[in-house]
Amino acid sequence: MSTKSNLQIARAAYQPKLPKALKGCVKAVEGAATQSVGNQAEIKELFPNTYGMPVVEFETKKGCCKKAAADAPFNVGVILSGGQAPGGHNVISGLFDGIKSLNPENKLYGFLMGPGGLVDHKYMEITSEIMDEYRNTGGFDIIGSGRTKLEEIDQFESGIKILRELGIKALVIIGGDDSNTNACVLAEYYAAKNYGVQVIGCPKTIDGDLKNEQIETSFGFDTACKTYSELIGNIERDCNSARKYWHFIKLMGRSASHIALECALQTQPNICLVSEEVEAKGQSLDDIVAYIAGIVAARAKNGNNFGTVLIPEGLIEFIPAIKKLIAQLNDALATDEAKAVARENQIEYVKAHLSEENLAVFNSLPADVASQLALDRDPHGNVQVSLIETEKLLSKMVAKKLSEMKKAGEYCGKFSAQHHFFGYEGRCAAPSNFDADYCYSLGFNASRLISCGKTGYMSVIKNTTAPAAEWIAGGVPITMMMNLEKRNGKMKPVIRKALVELDGAPFKFFASKRDDWAINTSYVYPGSIQYWGPTEVCDQTTKTLALEHQK
Ligand code: FBP
Repeated sequence: MSTKSNLQIARAAYQPKLPKALKGCVKAVEGAATQSVGNQAEIKELFPNTYGMPVVEFETKKGCCKKAAADAPFNVGVILSGGQAPGGHNVISGLFDGIKSLNPENKLYGFLMGPGGLVDHKYMEITSEIMDEYRNTGGFDIIGSGRTKLEEIDQFESGIKILRELGIKALVIIGGDDSNTNACVLAEYYAAKNYGVQVIGCPKTIDGDLKNEQIETSFGFDTACKTYSELIGNIERDCNSARKYWHFIKLMGRSASHIALECALQTQPNICLVSEEVEAKGQSLDDIVAYIAGIVAARAKNGNNFGTVLIPEGLIEFIPAIKKLIAQLNDALATDEAKAVARENQIEYVKAHLSEENLAVFNSLPADVASQLALDRDPHGNVQVSLIETEKLLSKMVAKKLSEMKKAGEYCGKFSAQHHFFGYEGRCAAPSNFDADYCYSLGFNASRLISCGKTGYMSVIKNTTAPAAEWIAGGVPITMMMNLEKRNGKMKPVIRKALVELDGAPFKFFASKRDDWAINTSYVYPGSIQYWGPTEVCDQTTKTLALEHQK
């Protein structure tokens, strides 16, 4: 047993809150048949067994306080998939308590190190002793996580062998958009084959991009943003104390800028770039550099040679010229011929397959950025944006621009930059009260979706700006969130990623304030996540969620 901090010991005793509807016996109320968000005919054809199912909402069953007899025993498997997100352990503890409340004989098995554990038959039973070690803690270390993509029939068949061996009737996949897409494909396959194994998804990702009309927020976003905002606030205070540095801070979030935007709403920095706006305005790298340099110069006029810039990690992908280049690189890399090329020859190979226009953009990029775009993809075909040092690239270009402006008499000031990348610092933080309750509810809710026989559903908790007791629990068919998108050179059914909406309340609020925050030093210092104390300190949702729900 590992040594625990005092906070960990005290936090272990926290009993997460559940929505009223999940307490006692529940009744599933079904809505009307559903449709996918796009490409309805194609998605229906690809998912004949799991398409069109109704949205489900749970209600308390009246007149049933305690069950006379427990349900027949069953076993459940769970997988943590993709990047870590605060609250994963609470999804598992909610699921564990949920299935045990149906029948104490029920067992929970965790597949190790992500979906690969299912394929390779690596698993462990999660006993109550093990579970108690992980309640309300951050991380995914109870069973580990991984990014193996579940998409091949061989993998599904290997999975069913171990599921049968362990008597597992349902598998819960805790993951982001890509992993839940795979959960849906697996649910369809097992349903088509009549294998009798249900598959349920849970919406995880710090990136905040797995949300739609049905999912209000993905778990982990709340804690991760609060953790980064604490750090940004500390940097802002340092910045305002020493008054000699411009801090360039890159924030995780993959393609979407939700994390950067939320942190900006919490800390009011001088600049926050939003990738989705860069794309909508058709901005080039030079336009972005000119925008930042303009603000540096304006602050210098007031004697303020310091500031804070937030940069979403996916920025580079959204600059239209680079986006076009990436699309062509993806196509070029997807062929069998490309896959056979030795790594050391790959850059030359892809260059030979680029149009003149894209080649010019490719050659204009610093060598490390260009090779990152040309070489590495994660198993889902995504550019690994966390490896691109955009914060350094931008500050270097801003310094160059400022020296040109100085020569032209447009700037007189001092520019000295510091660089930061916040990502891994927040992914395993101990879940905030919101994430602790939300995740526990998602897991417990998944047990109810299992007991009412659902498959191909995502566990969903709504009305999340209200107190937890009033949250609405239920399930949404994953096919409802799907459309066709190009992946690895082919059109594939995927869950539509939610990017920042420029006409949405969070961005509009930010846009109405940013000119003031740019020139005036209006920093806000959120401080660290609190678990005990006044509710306005401990139980606030993200500003994004609050603004989205503002009537
Ligand atoms: P998920 O989509 O798996 O939740 O990824 C979250 C994330 O933290 C991204 O923000 C980031 O780009 C990526 O994972 C980094 O991946 P890795 O952990 O493999 O370095």
